[in-house]
Amino acid sequence: MDRRDFLKNGSIATVGTYFAGSTQTHLMAAPQPEPAKPIAANDHIQIALIGAGGQGQDDTKQAAQVPGAKIVAVADCYNGCLDHAKELWGNDIQTTRDYNEILARKDIDAVIIGTPDHWHMQASVDAMNAGKDVYCEKPMIHLYSDGPRIIDTWRKTGRIMQVGSQRVSSIIYLKAKELLASGAIGTLNMVSAWWDRNSAQGAFDYTVPYDASPETCDWPRWLGTAPKIPFNPEHFFQWRKWKAYGSGVAGDLFVHLFSGTHLITQTHGPTRAMSTGGLRFWKDGRDIPDVLVSLYDYAQGFNLVIRTNFVDGGAESSGFVFTGSEGSMTVSGDSVSISRVPRETEPGVRYELYSAPIQKRMLEIYHEKYPIAHPTGPVLVGEEKYVAPDNYSDHYHHIKNWIDSIRSREAVVEDPVFGFRAAGAALLSNMSYDSGKPAHWDPEEMRVL
Ligand SMILES: NC(=O)c1ccc[n+]([C@@H]2O[C@H](COP(=O)([O-])OP(=O)(O)OC[C@H]3O[C@@H](n4cnc5c(N)ncnc54)[C@H](O)[C@@H]3O)[C@@H](O)[C@H]2O)c1
Repeated sequence: MDRRDFLKNGSIATVGTYFAGSTQTHLMAAPQPEPAKPIAANDHIQIALIGAGGQGQDDTKQAAQVPGAKIVAVADCYNGCLDHAKELWGNDIQTTRDYNEILARKDIDAVIIGTPDHWHMQASVDAMNAGKDVYCEKPMIHLYSDGPRIIDTWRKTGRIMQVGSQRVSSIIYLKAKELLASGAIGTLNMVSAWWDRNSAQGAFDYTVPYDASPETCDWPRWLGTAPKIPFNPEHFFQWRKWKAYGSGVAGDLFVHLFSGTHLITQTHGPTRAMSTGGLRFWKDGRDIPDVLVSLYDYAQGFNLVIRTNFVDGGAESSGFVFTGSEGSMTVSGDSVSISRVPRETEPGVRYELYSAPIQKRMLEIYHEKYPIAHPTGPVLVGEEKYVAPDNYSDHYHHIKNWIDSIRSREAVVEDPVFGFRAAGAALLSNMSYDSGKPAHWDPEEMRVL
């Protein structure tokens, strides 16, 4: 099958094709649900949530929709989240501030970890050592030393662990991967990715609940290994703004763009990062930049450029442009599109600057080499676009992939090695920003050089 046949047929099923101007748009089919199989009572997967804030709740809502999955317990450090967990999943679930009580239960198969980043390693390691399968939110690591500890525990215990960059399960990303591999844009030479915002909540300024206090919040437990400071509700609820708990826009957003780049290009990571930026607008005591631009080298022969701008008065958006020798591919929102300008078949001749006899002879020489052509067939120009169906959720499919693997014991789509490579690359951006120098990384061995 050549490139054009591939584009026509696609290997992920498409339903419906329509034309809008010069754009041929394919509405993709959502993955078909498996035929309903009765699930035996003893085959239910009993799941607990550790860290029941925004993302932990979203992950667990997805898990609760997977046939055979049951939510049985929740650990969190804030009473308001524990009480809300009962409202969401029933009064009979166990709620606790201490996740060790959950890990001690023999009837719990698996945990979702939605804590801030500084707890990811310890909670994942404790859970796997207690015999639980793990879904841990991105970025998998907060510090480089977290990576080997998680990977070693995962290998030693043989548990199933999925990292939570849900977009790697997206049919749009998978389509982009197939299009690139099929040669749809020729040889890749550049990837540009961005995640821009222009709102307080988008810039990590989350609302602190009115009742936040040392009584309603388990501050010492929440702090864990972070520097000991007196109770600070902004740190508790807006932790992304401080390096002690997160890793800024790189750990929060770049990591998604690395996961996407690595999946779509089937690469393992950059060898070098160079970053610049600054704290330009959100000067509220945070110790991270709100504008970060980073350049990366990939040994596979392309460069990656990533930026986040939290001061973008133009538009809030995120996405990628993959640029190749024969076209470009844009992945953004719920679609992937290819656009091409057909490559010239001859170099052309610049002759009109010179005297008439020279012009005449130059044209003769040129046409001896490139006779005047009379093309016969049409040329494929314009855009080809694939769109996910309404209500399609990559988040559901990512969680379902994890729960399916818990049953089958087969590999997940985003294991800790993939997770470390994405988060390790993201942290490299901060390393370069902080030092003002290029930072080097071995993506195969997953080591800072
Ligand atoms: N995949 C995505 O698209 C996505 C989106 C948002 C957030 N995230 C990730 O999810 C994680 C959580 O982010 P969030 O926005 O939900 O934060 P959040 O502050 O809303 O929630 C974190 C919760 O963890 C609890 N917690 C902290 N330490 C704990 C401990 N030791 N035991 C039990 N609970 C503990 C806190 O009380 C809090 O309720 C982060 O790592 C973030 O990067 C991923």
